[in-house]
Amino acid sequence: MGALAALACSKMNLSPIRYPGGKGKLAAKIAGIIDASTVRNGVYIEPFAGGAGAALSLLFSGKVQTIVINDVDKAVASFWKSILNETERFVQKIHATAVTIDEWRNQKAVYQNQVDRCSFELGFAFFFLNRTNRSGILTGGPIGGFEQKGDWKLDCRFNKDRLIEQIVEIAKRKKQIRVYNQDIFDFIERYLPRYQDNGFIYFDPPYFNKAGRLYKNSFNEEQHRKLHDAIVCLNAPWIVSYDNVPNICRIYSDVASEPLSINYCAAKKGTGSEIMFYCPELARLYLKTRKQSPS
Ligand SMILES: C[S@@+](CC[C@H](N)C(=O)[O-])C[C@H]1O[C@@H](n2cnc3c(N)ncnc32)[C@H](O)[C@@H]1O
Repeated sequence: MGALAALACSKMNLSPIRYPGGKGKLAAKIAGIIDASTVRNGVYIEPFAGGAGAALSLLFSGKVQTIVINDVDKAVASFWKSILNETERFVQKIHATAVTIDEWRNQKAVYQNQVDRCSFELGFAFFFLNRTNRSGILTGGPIGGFEQKGDWKLDCRFNKDRLIEQIVEIAKRKKQIRVYNQDIFDFIERYLPRYQDNGFIYFDPPYFNKAGRLYKNSFNEEQHRKLHDAIVCLNAPWIVSYDNVPNICRIYSDVASEPLSINYCAAKKGTGSEIMFYCPELARLYLKTRKQSPS
């Protein structure tokens, strides 16, 4: 087992992307849910993938054979496509790029002037800004401010050797990773059916509250409801996580659930209260048995 594969078994995040509300820390829990399901050596699908921290952990640890990651954000999808399909170019670009405020402005301009298609340049700009912006939030400012007078400097989250190692290890598993850049409803209708046999789906949609501040794409209440209606019709085992708020609990009132506490650090450190919803099969195979014998 390589060094990073060993790390996958620990709580370390394998994703080169910092993500507000990133779910790398949930990998061990999701592995337990997969064990309780009928899926073996299966396909793990994250239709709202973002930093894909949990997906990578499950792949590196051998819990699943293949991961399918989808995100509607062109910048996010560009990053994943570029590191898999143009690995060497991406690595060289990291080596060659100075982590300075001037470069931050260049990459910000690439990001802001993006056209409606995926590209290597957009993927790199997303990566650069994600690693150099406060809390990884793309609309936020640079770590340390434009004057760079604070204790934390722009490059404090840009350990080139470490990031290159992560990217190379991910790219080695390229044949086991599929990337899509689809709106969720197109993804569910057109692509998900390909993977439903022996597939396990984890939906991590934009939060109900404050998602607009964290991600480029957020949902209104009607879209959250529409998503619920699409999810409950699926045939493969699925779980969904959300911020634990009354509106979401109302929308998912017909589905088994369990509160979830995760430490995360979007904008400021704190403990966010989240909730996990389970399809009927997993409610029976995982949730009920756990409630009888708490671990
Ligand atoms: C809560 S984040 C997912 C975080 C991810 N699970 C992780 O661990 O990093 C939600 C993601 O959904 C994406 N998203 C928002 N609206 C979407 C849509 N309509 N279709 C697909 N993805 C969407 C956002 O771009 C964002 O990356």
